[in-house]
Amino acid sequence: MAAPWFEDEIAAAVASRLPELAVEVVAEIDSTSSELMRRARDGRCAPVLLVAERQTAGRGRMGRPWQSAQDRGEPASLTFSLGLPLMPRDWSGLSLAVGVSVAESLDPSKAGRISLKWPNDLWVDDRKLGGILIETALPQNGTAERYLVIGIGLNIGPREAEGLSTAPAWIQQWRPSASAPELLREIVVPLVEHVLLFGDRGFVPFAERFAERDILRGREVQLSDGTVGRCEGVGWGGELLLQTASGMKTITSAEVSVRPRPAQ
Ligand code: BTN
Repeated sequence: MAAPWFEDEIAAAVASRLPELAVEVVAEIDSTSSELMRRARDGRCAPVLLVAERQTAGRGRMGRPWQSAQDRGEPASLTFSLGLPLMPRDWSGLSLAVGVSVAESLDPSKAGRISLKWPNDLWVDDRKLGGILIETALPQNGTAERYLVIGIGLNIGPREAEGLSTAPAWIQQWRPSASAPELLREIVVPLVEHVLLFGDRGFVPFAERFAERDILRGREVQLSDGTVGRCEGVGWGGELLLQTASGMKTITSAEVSVRPRPAQ
């Protein structure tokens, strides 16, 4: 029998911060993020955590598909989206703050097995463990608050590298008995806390914590627009600072993807 998801336990654990949060687990859906965006466009904007055991059309950043690892009785990926209304003064750096939250939950030690690759990836030893997709919808109810949908996908069990632009890592490489429900419980409560903190104070409380896990800092990288340079970390708004031949450039997450260049 598949492991239980403890929906009531999760809802109770976040109740002091987000009492209205509904926790839903479905066996299969196209994409948890697509579903919450559809609901928001229909005016359904209550806080919800939607978990899927399988996605048939998972989406990643920049219109890319996001495929789960092949499950073997138990889900081999954790795929969920958290939707809630939020009104931060500035949205910049939200995917980095979410990355900090997930990395710290799964890997609390300062030494940091899990690194963060700007702007939305969790990496282990230069391989991709998971990704974060941030989207917002503007409800038609006249409120200034946007409905935020944070989609998170993590590899739990082994997965093939074929078809992926970055070789994969998975959690069972160092936690052989890890399961999706167990990991969800570890991640969700701090995630809600951190998203609400971001809503109040923006990226600033996360900047140093991101720097501790920043895998690109000090490395030569190439952007998808061809620019090459050396990463000098991220600014207080979460922008990537890149030293190029023509000076320091600041890169915001909507623009490009970034790859570390192999050592020359
Ligand atoms: C990326 O690596 O570009 C982001 C991947 C985000 C995947 C998650 S899985 C749950 C949620 N539903 C989706 O369709 N995408 C996100």
